[in-house]
Amino acid sequence: MPHKQFLDQVQGRVQSLLETFLPAASSQPARLHQAMRHSALNPGKRLRPALVYACGEMLGAESSVLDVPAIVIELIHAYSLIHDDLPCMDDDDLRRGLPTCHVAFDEATAVLAGDALQTLAFEILASSNQLQVSAETRIEMLTLLSKASGSMGMGGGQAIDLAMTNKQADLKTLESMHRMKTGALIDASVQLGYLASPVRDDKVLANLKIYSQSLGLAFQIRDDILDIEADTETLGKPQGSDLAKNKSTFPALLGVDGARLRAKQLVESALQALQQLPYKSDNLATFARYIIQRDY
Ligand code: IPE
Ligand code: IPE
Ligand code: MG
Ligand code: MG
Ligand code: MG
Repeated sequence: MPHKQFLDQVQGRVQSLLETFLPAASSQPARLHQAMRHSALNPGKRLRPALVYACGEMLGAESSVLDVPAIVIELIHAYSLIHDDLPCMDDDDLRRGLPTCHVAFDEATAVLAGDALQTLAFEILASSNQLQVSAETRIEMLTLLSKASGSMGMGGGQAIDLAMTNKQADLKTLESMHRMKTGALIDASVQLGYLASPVRDDKVLANLKIYSQSLGLAFQIRDDILDIEADTETLGKPQGSDLAKNKSTFPALLGVDGARLRAKQLVESALQALQQLPYKSDNLATFARYIIQRDY
């Protein structure tokens, strides 16, 4: 774990922020709200919020300004996981060690819970007073988050993932699918941290993007490797899900060692980009190394 203390802190902060922003379990329609809470409050690693805080704090943003970006990226991620697990997509029944949303509730409720978490993210980002930034910055954040979530980002990557199931994707397709389905939200996390900070510097932003985009691809390559190597209990999701569904993955194309090497090269690029920054980037560097070492 990178800076275990830092991650513990982020996890605690995200949990209490989610409690504040999510509708109460008893408010109507209660079943929908319970499903949203089930999936969002379950113990995820909260790596995307951690990236928002790590990048923003490095650039001099206050933690209080970073709370809204941190929470909205996690809400979009939680929504993406609910839909990813649905029978019409990966058809998985375990997530974060607990029954997936459609298993704990039902399919229609899971679809709606995903939809509602997504729109809640945009509502909070558009209107929360806790986000003390200019109207222009707020719109930049909204544009960034919507692009990263939509058909040119996470959603589009998921569409390519489905189209490539039972087919052998070539390296170019596989890379672009991973950059979209997973990389886009990781890239957005870092860029939201930047936008919440007082820094506006094209060179800094360019290096941050090399970092976040390399990290995003490496993150999904590691996820593909863990699907083969880790056990279900450690993962908190079903081991072997990709193999069972004949998914296009990096280990399927390059072998586990080839995939590991590619992830390592990407982390090296991420670390090199950080070295170009005139800031103390240790926290982001630790993060990058952790991405390829993590065991769940
Ligand atoms: C899982 O993401 C889905 C991918 C995009 C690979 P995480 O590994 O960050 O999942 P949680 O949030 O910790 O459950
Ligand atoms: C998920 O990729 C990417 C998302 C946008 C949710 P996977 O399908 O490999 O994620 P897991 O392994 O189910 O978490
Ligand atoms: Mg999937
Ligand atoms: Mg999946
Ligand atoms: Mg996976």
